[in-house]
Amino acid sequence: MPTTISQQLSQWLQGESARVPIGRPWVTLCYAQSWDGSLALRPGHPLILSNRDSLQLTHRLRSLHDGILVGIGTVLADDPQLTVRECTGPSPQPVVLDSQLRMPPSARLCKSEQHRCWVLTSVANAGQTRQDVELIGVDTTAEGHVDLRSALLALTRRGIRRIMVEGGAQVINGFLRAGLADGIVLTVAPALVGGYKAVADLGLHRECQIPRISPLGTQRLGDDLIMWGPLHYGEDAAR
Ligand SMILES: NC(=O)c1ccc[n+]([C@@H]2O[C@H](COP(=O)([O-])OP(=O)(O)OC[C@H]3O[C@@H](n4cnc5c(N)ncnc54)[C@H](OP(=O)(O)O)[C@@H]3O)[C@@H](O)[C@H]2O)c1
Repeated sequence: MPTTISQQLSQWLQGESARVPIGRPWVTLCYAQSWDGSLALRPGHPLILSNRDSLQLTHRLRSLHDGILVGIGTVLADDPQLTVRECTGPSPQPVVLDSQLRMPPSARLCKSEQHRCWVLTSVANAGQTRQDVELIGVDTTAEGHVDLRSALLALTRRGIRRIMVEGGAQVINGFLRAGLADGIVLTVAPALVGGYKAVADLGLHRECQIPRISPLGTQRLGDDLIMWGPLHYGEDAAR
């Protein structure tokens, strides 16, 4: 991987996230999609889209964050480790959004020797006893999902100042709908998958509500295109 893009992204992140929002960490969305915006063929099925250089860049980005967050859907589909392995640097604290406490003890995140995984779940489920993960009780929404503002507050209280959100689609949409994603690093791989889309219905009604990215950074890594920048929400966007 050329060091230039790694350095550019590092500088961008350091500069942007210095303006950490009050009471919550800086949130970077980071995921790989096909040209048509698919994350996977179908939900629940893993699909490798990025090339080796892009993967190394993703690991570099992980090492620049204090925490890394995914939804339970991604844990069940991909069984990720969420560690830094493709470059040198510290691994971030893994965090899983899991309202119903479906986290299987067999998951690799439950066996990590580097960090004890934090599972953000309902207050009721947090009363259960688990040795393999740390259960953190937070408010839930009317739909029964972890409330993202409460989740970010809990992470701030535990010293997380920069968190990388790696997916999957429901979690990406949740952060965008809530206006809680501050920046995005997107890998676009040259494939037309026609599958499970990263961004679906954001519940927007007016053009002025559309989240936009500016200023935009772009760089090619082989055939993959890396795009990044801070997110700006329209005046009317729900924040
Ligand atoms: N290409 C990439 O970069 C990439 C990255 C990651 C994943 N993926 C793919 O994406 C797919 C998984 O995505 P997914 O959409 O099925 O699952 P997901 O977004 O990883 O997880 C969704 C689950 O998270 C829980 N959750 C808790 N609070 C939430 C909140 N506030 N908002 C949203 N979800 C919340 C919900 O379950 P509870 O209600 O039970 O808590 C929900 O069902 C897999 O196929 C995986 O391979 C691709």
